Order: sequence, then C-alpha cells, then structure tokens
Amino acid sequence: MTKKVVVTRQIKDEHLNQLKEKFEVFMWDSAGEPLPREQFLEEIKDADAALTMLSETVDAEMFETAKNLKVVANLAVGYDNINLETAKENDVTITNTPEVLTETTAELAFTLMLTSARRVIKANRELEAGDWTGWSPYHMAGTDVLGKTIGVFGMGSIGAAFARRLKGFDCKIIYHNRSESKYAADLNAELVSFDELLEQSDFVLCAAPLTDETKYKFDKSAFGKMKSEAHFINIGRGAHVVEADLKEAVETGEIAAAALDVFDGEPISKDHPFIGMDNMTLLPHIGSASVATRDNMVQLCVDNIMNVLEGKAPLTQVK
Ligand code: DGY
Repeated sequence: MTKKVVVTRQIKDEHLNQLKEKFEVFMWDSAGEPLPREQFLEEIKDADAALTMLSETVDAEMFETAKNLKVVANLAVGYDNINLETAKENDVTITNTPEVLTETTAELAFTLMLTSARRVIKANRELEAGDWTGWSPYHMAGTDVLGKTIGVFGMGSIGAAFARRLKGFDCKIIYHNRSESKYAADLNAELVSFDELLEQSDFVLCAAPLTDETKYKFDKSAFGKMKSEAHFINIGRGAHVVEADLKEAVETGEIAAAALDVFDGEPISKDHPFIGMDNMTLLPHIGSASVATRDNMVQLCVDNIMNVLEGKAPLTQVK
C-alpha cells in the first residue's frame, strides 16, 4: 500500500514533488494559516509520516489517533511542540532541522541587538508618523555595542554563531550553560553562573532550547539582577520569559530595553501588552526566515521522511 505523508503547511513544488513521486501526500494548501487541529487529527489517522510546523501540537491525543505513524519531521530546530516521551512510547521517530538554520538565526539575533541598541524601530516610527522635528544632539541617542559585555544564555551552535559575529566589536563574551560549551575556547568566552550572567551583561541573549529547566527562567528575580542599562534579547522561545515580569522591568527602567522574536503564545495580537511599549523591539518569529534557509529546512524534513519511510536512518533525529 502506498504510504501517506501529511504536510501541515504549503511547501514549494520542488519539495512536494519529491514526496509525491513516492507517497500519497496530503498538503494543507495555505502558507500562512495553520492546519485546523480537527483536520490535522483526521488526516494523520492513516498517515505514515508528518511534516509539521511549530503550530502543530504533537501530543498524546495525536499519537493515539495516528496508529501508522513512523516519523514526524518538524520544520524547526526547537521541538517543544512535540511530546518526546509519547513519541518514544509509540515508536515514532522525531526529527528537527539543526545546523541549516544556525547562521540565519544568529544574524537575526545580531540584528535585534543592534536594532535595540540604536533604537531603530522607535526612530523609524517617529519619522513615519511625521514627528521628526530635526537634528538635535541627543535625538534618539542609543547605546554602543562596542566594548560591552555580552551574555549568552545557551551557548549552543546558534549562540556561538551570534558570538562569532561580535568579532570587531571588541566585546567581552560570557555565557551560561549547564556545562562548558565546546565553542567557548574559540570565542574566548567565559562560563559564568546564571546570576553572574545577569549581573555583568550589557546585552543578554537567550538562545537556549526550551526545557523544564529553562522555562520561565527570565522572571522578576532575573530581571531584578540585570543592569539598568541592559538589553534583553530573546530568540529562544517565548516561554523562557514571564512576560508580565519583563513588561514591568522595561516599564520601570529596571532594564533598558528588550528585543524579542518569540512570544509565549504565538501569534500575538495588537492587544498584547508589549505592543506600543517604548524600548521594545518586536518581531513575528522570523529567526530562521531567509528563503535559502527555509528551503534547506524543508528539504531536510523531506529527506528525513524519505529516509525513515524507506528504512534508512534519519539524518537529524531528536534523541
Ligand atoms: C526554530 O527552528 O526552532 C525556530 O524558532 C523556527 O524559526
């Protein structure tokens, strides 16, 4: 019997056709809208593989429904939308897309840091609103990155690619991981405790995976330890942060600014408490969103599905 693959978002023909050549494929034909849960559960019932997005919750209910499922290829390096234990119990291979998105995501983190430091969004908003009254000495004056202490929470491949980009900025690099990072020596980066990271950094980047240990790590107490001039940048997951505590920290000047690509509950609406706040740079989760990188991520998902359905080893299995 022909095996079935469920693809939960529109992908390009060049990728889709590779799957279609070998399998029956259901693709949710929308680039923007997520596949409704009910339809996902319906389509997955007789599927052998699924190419999923972060918007799909791959949980016990889904595994219960999907009796034939052998592989879920998640189009992201993060897999906090997937219940790994239940996947294991059901003997389903889970794959993600590491490495192919590292440099692109690091570039976005760097963009967020510079944008926040130099108040780029606020300056642009003022100009577009017609409120620019002319040059003055401290108009929209921000802060330099040059010579500052940069703290990376989660010195994995993305954190390291971000830190590598600091060459030329003459920064001190510190980081916090559970254990020494294999990238640290090349970067001349110093392992410090979480508190030291908070207390010493002028810019704190959260680039860690979301786990039980890192969930809501950035709370009132953490922001309270940061310098009042510090900028907090998050390209990890929204749930690393207690958003109400971050809002308060920025509003009260406990920290200088925040720059976020991720939120606790996405997408956020224009009623979200962060919207319109001064000193907040907000992006709609575009960390890995360059065309070339997204193409590579989709291709990696396709290759993982093909491998597993053809009895070969997956390329990037989540263990
Ligand atoms: C990831 O890969 O986890 C990113 O957040 C998706 O852009």
